[in-house]
Amino acid sequence: MKGSFTPDSNVLKTSNPYLSFKMTLTGDGYFQSAEEALSATKKVSRSERIDIVAGSARKGQSYLFWKGDQLFQLPVTYWTETDTWVNSPSYPDGSPHFDKAIIPRCLECHASYFDWLPPPVNRYRKTSLVLGIFCEKCHGPGREHVARHRLKATLPAGTSEAIVNPALLARDRQIDICGLCHSGNGTPIQPALSFLPGDSLDDFIDIPFAGPEDAVDVHGSQVQLLRRSKCFQSTTTLTCSTCHDVHKPQVDAAAFSPRCLSCHQPRQCGQYAKMGKSIAGNCIDCHMPLQESRVLFSNTNGKKLMPKVRNHQIGIYAGEKVH
Ligand code: HEC
Ligand code: HEC
Ligand code: HEC
Ligand code: HEC
Ligand code: HEC
Ligand code: HEC
Repeated sequence: MKGSFTPDSNVLKTSNPYLSFKMTLTGDGYFQSAEEALSATKKVSRSERIDIVAGSARKGQSYLFWKGDQLFQLPVTYWTETDTWVNSPSYPDGSPHFDKAIIPRCLECHASYFDWLPPPVNRYRKTSLVLGIFCEKCHGPGREHVARHRLKATLPAGTSEAIVNPALLARDRQIDICGLCHSGNGTPIQPALSFLPGDSLDDFIDIPFAGPEDAVDVHGSQVQLLRRSKCFQSTTTLTCSTCHDVHKPQVDAAAFSPRCLSCHQPRQCGQYAKMGKSIAGNCIDCHMPLQESRVLFSNTNGKKLMPKVRNHQIGIYAGEKVH
């Protein structure tokens, strides 16, 4: 949990001078409370416990709470760029809200497993939740694989591994695994959790086709953006794994330039003549710039905060500089 629960830094003011939020730690857990002064003597407050954390805090963390077996989003989010509490994205500034229902699609992208119950849409069997993104989200069911390896000595050589190795799938099927969570919300055609690695994502979620001129937000749409790049369209091998090793944190932009140089020469770049070899470690700064998300933002105390995300459309952008 990244935000601060110590007095003074545990308060979020809002654009409404009578309303503030407070984050506290008690013997029963971490809590978020809304406190609203209705008059000089009359106050209302509501307090809910942080039951689930969503996000590693690369950009931020949002928090969820249970009301019976229904799951909701808490009003306050932690924002990494400013290292402060902010109003949760999607909640209006200046009024206390605890009512955003956490739907299955939200958990499909941010958790590995859950059993949902009859409506309303945010009812789950509490004990069924498997938090985080586990191996099976990308490798498919692993029970048979484990069973075989426990018996390995007795299996004939060349027996199938009985698990998906994404590297062996066709490019579109590899990217579909990532696309389940990295191509935006889309419109589900099948119930959540039906898609398995190796399937064609089109049969499960309707993701609108993005033409070259259509606006695609930098947040959460890495697949559409990469697909629009000339690098992707002019090759048959470029996938997310050309650059990423998802088994490790991916946080050093400069470390990715060598991936570009597996296909390009620095000399090919128009800036080479001017800047020389110094461009070699900085391909990302100029060709995959950090840009503000327009769909993911927080309205906090009268200000609009937008996180910066890498644009995955590799291309030529005006005015980008080496950072
Ligand atoms: C089940 C949903 C899901 C699938 C499938 C998935 N991702 Fe993610 N991925 C996420 C979420 C959610 C985050 C944000 C995690 C966070 O910071 O809280 C993330 C974060 C990342 C990051 C940033 C990692 C970091 O160190 O901050 C990269 C890179 C990434 N994913 C690439 C991929 C690739 C490549 C694939 C396909 C092989 C893939 N993901 C499949 C949900 C998914
Ligand atoms: C279609 C999949 C998808 C859905 C639905 C979705 N997210 Fe995300 N979310 C992502 C991905 C992927 C990221 C990683 C950042 C990026 O791509 O910009 C992310 C990032 C985040 C982060 C920032 C974590 C970080 O990296 O620091 C939070 C917090 C978050 N989501 C909360 C939620 C909540 C709460 C919901 C439901 C109300 C939700 N998301 C719905 C895919 C999804
Ligand atoms: C976000 C998706 C994702 C998750 C989660 C994930 N993997 Fe992978 N894994 C991949 C991809 C994609 C590849 C293929 C990479 C490539 O193209 O070389 C891979 C490759 C592998 C390989 C290499 C196979 C080979 O033949 O070399 C092993 C082993 C592996 N993963 C194990 C795991 C384990 C164990 C976990 C859980 C701790 C895990 N993976 C979680 C996406 C994922
Ligand atoms: C798998 C090989 C491959 C990788 C990896 C790759 N590219 Fe490309 N890229 C290409 C090909 C092929 C073209 C098209 C060349 C042409 O049409 O002349 C291209 C085109 C481009 C263009 C021209 C884009 C335009 O819209 O005119 C730029 C800029 C570029 N690449 C930069 C990069 C950068 C920066 C990286 C690393 C972040 C990268 N490429 C990674 C293969 C790749
Ligand atoms: C040409 C190289 C390249 C390819 C291909 C690529 N990425 Fe990335 N990705 C990067 C770089 C560079 C970063 C930024 C790392 C940093 O700033 O620390 C990044 C960051 C991310 C993040 C973190 C969000 C953010 O902007 O902070 C996610 C999520 C992600 N990539 C997903 C994907 C997915 C999914 C694919 C395939 C559709 C993919 N990437 C393909 C280079 C690539
Ligand atoms: C300071 C910003 C900057 C850096 C750093 C940079 N580029 Fe470029 N690159 C550009 C611009 C701008 C263009 C468009 C041509 C021009 O105006 O010079 C370009 C053009 C390109 C092209 C397309 C050339 C063509 O004629 O289609 C490729 C390929 C390319 N760069 C690759 C790279 C690679 C690989 C790296 C890292 C080794 C890199 N660039 C680093 C700014 C940069």
